[in-house]
Amino acid sequence: MSSALAVAVKGLKKSYGDFEAVKGIDFEISQGEIFSLLGPNGAGKTTTVEILEGFRKKSSGELEVLGLNPERDRTKLKEHIGIVPQTGALDRYLTVMETVTMYAGYYRNPQSAEHVIELVGLQEKKNERALRLSGGQQRRLEVAIALVGNPDLLFLDEPTTGFDPAARRETWQVIKGLAELGKTILLTTHYMDEAEFLADHIAVIARGEIVAAGTPYNLGGRDKLLPRISLLYPNGVNPPAELKSVITPSGTTAFDVEDITSAIYIITEHARAHNVSLNTLQIVRPSLEDVYLSLIGNDEGQASGNEAPAPRGRRPGRR
Ligand SMILES: Nc1ncnc2c1ncn2[C@@H]1O[C@H](COP(=O)(O)OP(=O)(O)OP(=O)(O)O)[C@@H](O)[C@H]1O
Ligand SMILES: [Mg+2]
Repeated sequence: MSSALAVAVKGLKKSYGDFEAVKGIDFEISQGEIFSLLGPNGAGKTTTVEILEGFRKKSSGELEVLGLNPERDRTKLKEHIGIVPQTGALDRYLTVMETVTMYAGYYRNPQSAEHVIELVGLQEKKNERALRLSGGQQRRLEVAIALVGNPDLLFLDEPTTGFDPAARRETWQVIKGLAELGKTILLTTHYMDEAEFLADHIAVIARGEIVAAGTPYNLGGRDKLLPRISLLYPNGVNPPAELKSVITPSGTTAFDVEDITSAIYIITEHARAHNVSLNTLQIVRPSLEDVYLSLIGNDEGQASGNEAPAPRGRRPGRR
C-alpha cells in the first residue's frame, strides 16, 4: 500500500451464514480525504465499516487500514481510529464532560476533553447529562468521543440520520473542520446532499456490490449527462414544434435536447413570437440523486425534487 493511502480494500467479502452481504468490493481512501459510502438500507455499509474498524471478521479479501491489518493489529489500530457507530451507546446519566473524560482515559495520548467538546460545539452543554441532550447534541457527543483519542482516521456511520436540517448543516461544518485538520474520514450516508457537500470521493454500494465510484461531480457519468431545459407555457401556446418536449407533472414543458445552444435559440425566438415570458426558464443539471437512483435501480428518480432531469440518453449503466 502506498503511504498516501489510509485505507485499501481489495476483493472484500462477508457472509452471514449463507447470505453474502458484501460480495467482493474494492476501494481506496487517500489520507486526508472524506470518502463516502452511499447506499440503501442493507447495502453492506455498516458491515464494511465494522470490518475496517476490526469489529467484524471478513470472509475473504485484503485490507489495510493505516498500514495495519484490522484483524491482526486491532489493538494498535484502535489507538489511531475514531468511531461513531450507527447506533450509539451513551451512558445517559454521565454529563458531557464526564463522558468525554472517561473515554479520554482509554487512550495513551488523548486530546483534552475541553478541546474536543469545543470542537463539536457542546461547550454550553458540558455539565448536562446525556439524557438531557437533544438527538443532534447526543450525536455530537458521540463525535467528541470518537475524537478524544486524536485519531488519524474517523469512521462516521450515518452521523446525521434523524437530524433537523439546521443540525445537519452544523454537523457538516464540524466534519469539514475535521478534514481541514488533516483527518481522513470514512462517512456512510443515505443523504445525497451530505455526500455531495462533504465527500471528495463516493462509492455507491448496493446489494453488497460497488455499482459506481467517482467524485460527486462525475459519479455514474453525471458530468456527461445532458442538462434539461424547462419552461412554463401559458394556456393556448404550444411549445416550439422543432424540439422534442414532454410535459412534467407540474405542467411545465421540459426539453430533452442534445444541443443546448440551438435549443435556447429556438425557444427564445418562439417565445418572442408568441409573447411568452422566459421568467420560468430553467436549465438544470442532473442531480446526484437522479444518478444515484438510476445506479441502484430505482426509477423514481424521474419524478424527483425540483424537476431535475432524469438521466437519459447516455444513462449511467447498471451493473
Ligand atoms: N450480524 C448479522 N447477521 C446476519 N445478517 C446481518 C448481520 N449484520 C448485517 N446483516 C445483513 O447484511 C446486510 C448488510 O447489512 P448492513 O448493516 O451492512 O447494511 P447497511 O448498508 O449498513 O444498511 P443501513 O443503511 O440500513 O444501515 C443486510 O441484509 C443485513 O440484514
Ligand atoms: Mg448501516
